[in-house]
Amino acid sequence: MSEITRHESGSAPATGHGAPSGHGDAPARLGHSPVADVPHRPRVTDTDPKAARRAERQVSFMFLLAVLLFIAFVVAYVMIDPRATIYIPVFGVVEAMNVALGACLGAGVFLIGAAAIQWAKKLMPDVEVVQQRHGMPSETEATAEAAANYERGRDESGFARFTMIRRTMIAALAIFPIPIIVLLRDLWATPPGSPSPAQILSTTLWRDGLRIVPDTGDTTGEGVEGIRPEDVPVGGLVSALPIDIMEVQKAEHNLNARGKAAIILVRMEPGEIRSQQGDGWDYQGILAYSKICTHVGCPIALYEHRTHHLLCPCHQSTFDLADSGNVVFGPAARRMPQLPIGVDEAGFLVAKSDFTEPIGPSFWERA
Ligand code: FES
Repeated sequence: MSEITRHESGSAPATGHGAPSGHGDAPARLGHSPVADVPHRPRVTDTDPKAARRAERQVSFMFLLAVLLFIAFVVAYVMIDPRATIYIPVFGVVEAMNVALGACLGAGVFLIGAAAIQWAKKLMPDVEVVQQRHGMPSETEATAEAAANYERGRDESGFARFTMIRRTMIAALAIFPIPIIVLLRDLWATPPGSPSPAQILSTTLWRDGLRIVPDTGDTTGEGVEGIRPEDVPVGGLVSALPIDIMEVQKAEHNLNARGKAAIILVRMEPGEIRSQQGDGWDYQGILAYSKICTHVGCPIALYEHRTHHLLCPCHQSTFDLADSGNVVFGPAARRMPQLPIGVDEAGFLVAKSDFTEPIGPSFWERA
């Protein structure tokens, strides 16, 4: 069994608040611990009541400052315009409120931690504890074998021999985290003059007369003419895209345009439609909505045709497609944007305009 010996030679002197006083002498029994062989040195606050009071004031000051910072956090949240921005060198243009909230909260939490450390180091009883434990060395053979394996691995890899490789490898590994840290900048800063998320998500490929085609997952997009109204059965759901999606996608070299323009078509009896986001935005009971959830952007295609509810699989936000796509359950903060549709001369479904509100997540302040 292990033995524990306490060495309480440096208790804080009385400061008028009930702190213990005095310093012990040598420990009664400290075994063979190297710690026990080091003579205990009392702290300044153990021997000088003035220093102890100074430390007490420092700790109290830090706690008080933390209180003020938390109050400032609330004031900043209430008073600062969420759209106000400031320029900070290196980071670029950032939202003023985020900076104020982060600075107040970060500094307040830091001060609480610093005050607690200062209190423990300077004023709490200075106790050293030595716990004797039985030795836990590995078997001699196992130690020797591990050492031999290490030596063999080092020799075989040539780590010691190839000096240039070793140095360049160390340099590469040391530099490796830097690109990742630089990428993190995108989480909070946008270059001056670049569009806001709301602006980016306010425009998609959809425009008047653009034909709607089924999203079959086919990456060529060839041979697709469009969707006729009779291709969308009552109670059914069709995932769809603009007809020129492949052309744009190739030109953009990314999937942003495709993600933003993705829609679903659902069909219900016209009499079941209770409201829409615009007059006559359906075509004979066929409604088109964005496919991107307004919570954090998951694609949705779970449709319950009897209730006309669209359910997002990510966090269960539910939208009533018979009632303007309004949210009926879950964390989404706004309705699912609707796309006005009609048919062209050839009888294929087409858009009548772009969306009239931003599609996708609504974490930013919408104008
Ligand atoms: S992304 Fe749809 S509910 Fe969260």
